[in-house]
Amino acid sequence: MTSTPPPPSEKKDKPLSSGGKDTLTITDNRTGKQYEVPIENDTIRALDLRQIKVKDEDFGLMTYDPAYMNTAACKSRITFIDGDKGILRYRGYPIEQLAEKGNYLETAYLIIYGELPNKAQYEKWVNDVMMHTLVHENIKKFVDGFHYDAHPMGMLVSTVAALSTFYTDAKNIKDPDSRKLQIFRLVGKMPTLAAFAYRHSVGRPYVYPDNELSYAGNFLNMLFKMTEVKYKVNPVLERALDILFILHADHEQNCSASAMRSVGSSQVDPYSSTAGAAAALYGPLHGGANAEVLYMLDEIGSKNNIPAFIKSVKEGKGKLMGFGHRIYKNYDPRAKIIKQLADEVFEVTGRNPKLDIALELERIALEDEYFVKRKLYPNVDFYSGLIYQAMQFPVEMFPVLFAIGRTSGWVAQWEEMLLDADQKIARPRQIYLGSGSRDYIMMGKR
Ligand code: CMC
Repeated sequence: MTSTPPPPSEKKDKPLSSGGKDTLTITDNRTGKQYEVPIENDTIRALDLRQIKVKDEDFGLMTYDPAYMNTAACKSRITFIDGDKGILRYRGYPIEQLAEKGNYLETAYLIIYGELPNKAQYEKWVNDVMMHTLVHENIKKFVDGFHYDAHPMGMLVSTVAALSTFYTDAKNIKDPDSRKLQIFRLVGKMPTLAAFAYRHSVGRPYVYPDNELSYAGNFLNMLFKMTEVKYKVNPVLERALDILFILHADHEQNCSASAMRSVGSSQVDPYSSTAGAAAALYGPLHGGANAEVLYMLDEIGSKNNIPAFIKSVKEGKGKLMGFGHRIYKNYDPRAKIIKQLADEVFEVTGRNPKLDIALELERIALEDEYFVKRKLYPNVDFYSGLIYQAMQFPVEMFPVLFAIGRTSGWVAQWEEMLLDADQKIARPRQIYLGSGSRDYIMMGKR
């Protein structure tokens, strides 16, 4: 199964052969015994398998599922993906509609609270978030301590973790008001931390937040303001960045959201959990892929070199970065939106010359049997980097931009996990295949 099971309203009628009973009958050929295991939401509970034993003293049957390829670790009401059909919805709303008609903070509210805000709720939320964009002055000293060429994502991971030492009230994770406040702070401060990391890496003075600007506009201002009294944010680029934040806001149980839930399940504060999630996002197979796409396009260099590059990928010498997805076995709907957005951005910034290589790479890959057979399509990261680069973001900032948008998803996943009575501290099992018991051998005798 590659997709999340459909929501209840979209389920087809149950097959007659189920006899009205949603159970799975398992026969253990070792003992001849039969077990009836309930099926709920097209899922069986792994713990129900523990009754399957040969001897009473046995531990019971477990499932083995490295990388959670077929294990639902939670019930969630936030994001729905149908990977075969290329559908993505936040709280039921199609991503295409949110990207076309909504804005990021409105979408973040939807993701976190479950409904689109009315005007009063929206204004209060925007105010609550924007009132928390400033960071403690000591954060600046903290950022100053990084080496001049420190990666901005490493700085972001560290500074967001450091916030837990500034807001010690954040450990009251059972207090709804405290959780609410930390969510304002996290959504509000991530762009500031990201911008400070960037300014430090280019040796420029930090720019304080300007709450008269929009969420994306303020971020652009903190990044690119120089000596002018008022930096003029380009409205096309501001809107494009806002849409990119919407597209990255949540993606159900991906590697970083799972890290957020897993770290948070120990009941640590949300800044520490967010640092864990951001660290997971940093990797080249996850949020780091957008930067890898640009390195790859640089390496390919010209359209003439594409066939040789594709050949090397097929020989297992590397991956076509920005292609493939654990869940999507169709075109990633976010990539479609980004591809259209690129045209609008390039009208302002000029065309990114790497676009031609990317388009040709996509064309060739989508016709090649290797990629067709494996259902490998462009994902969200294939085109996003081209836009970021045209907007003057250095490649190292790409995963940082992803992290800003994804923060609303992380905090929504975190709170849903905390409020879910089924959840406990995350603690997978293992299959131990190491040595049996043996006696210590003195060093001289080894
Ligand atoms: N280029 C070439 N071959 C690929 C690629 C790729 N990008 N992705 C998967 N394959 C092959 C893979 O080698 C395997 O082939 P075989 O069956 O012969 O062994 C087959 O396709 C199935 O792939 P998999 O590695 O089992 O799939 P997965 O679900 O474990 O990995 C993925 C998903 C996204 C990590 C992987 O497709 C990949 O590494 N893609 C490139 C990195 C990337 O673009 N990541 C961004 C993901 S979207 C945004 C995000 O989540 O952060």
